[in-house]
Amino acid sequence: MDSEYKIPAHVAIIMDGNGRWAKRRGLPRTMGHAQGARVVEQILEDADHMGIRYLTVYAFSTENWTRPAAEVKALMNLLRSYMKTSLVKCAKNNVRVRVIGDKTALDEDLRESIDYLEQQTKDNTGIGFQIAINYGGRDELRRAVSRIAQDVKDGRLSPEDISEDTINGALDTGGIPDPDLLIRTCGEERISNFLLWQLAYSELYFTEKAWPDFDKAELEKAIDAYNHRERRFGGLTEVQS
Ligand code: FPP
Repeated sequence: MDSEYKIPAHVAIIMDGNGRWAKRRGLPRTMGHAQGARVVEQILEDADHMGIRYLTVYAFSTENWTRPAAEVKALMNLLRSYMKTSLVKCAKNNVRVRVIGDKTALDEDLRESIDYLEQQTKDNTGIGFQIAINYGGRDELRRAVSRIAQDVKDGRLSPEDISEDTINGALDTGGIPDPDLLIRTCGEERISNFLLWQLAYSELYFTEKAWPDFDKAELEKAIDAYNHRERRFGGLTEVQS
């Protein structure tokens, strides 16, 4: 690695292709999700070791409720199990967990385990791990606008004082820097309602690999590609200026 090599501070991932991975092996889709959950845990450790400060993964979208009930249940059970079993590991690895998305629609026991894990890890100073559950970018913006409107209504804020920072702070990701790099696995090249506000200037990286086959080498490839991008944030390059 040369000294110019940049490790993105925040990596976001759309973990796609669990179903296709399972189908190719003649397995039920839920086995793809189970393998996907194992990969998430490994990638979190790898990301941490590589110096990534924040990792955000799309685990369940606001649209995923339309999947067959058995698949929704299996996904919720995987998340349930993660919330319950990861506490020791998070403590050991200094991981701070935050769930983004609308938690009100989740089962009470899952909500409670999420609150407990968030509470227990909130002072950890290592990697920030955001898990998007019942998350949609438009829904997040709707909820943020609603909070801001309430502040205006209650006289805590005047409309002319609403800044980008006000909106950043009202989002589920408040306090977390925007992703530098978005990775989406398994071939599709779209954002699918993920972090719509936060991805404004992120570099996008797409790979054919299905999520259950994603590993440290794939993460390194994505970061190599990121290192070949020139981020301008709407400005000019040195050559142009
Ligand atoms: C997309 O694949 C993946 C999902 C909808 C679920 C992702 C969830 C996990 C990997 C589990 C998360 C667990 C933790 C611990 C955070 P797909 O089913 O849409 O695949 P397909 O497009 O091939 O059908």
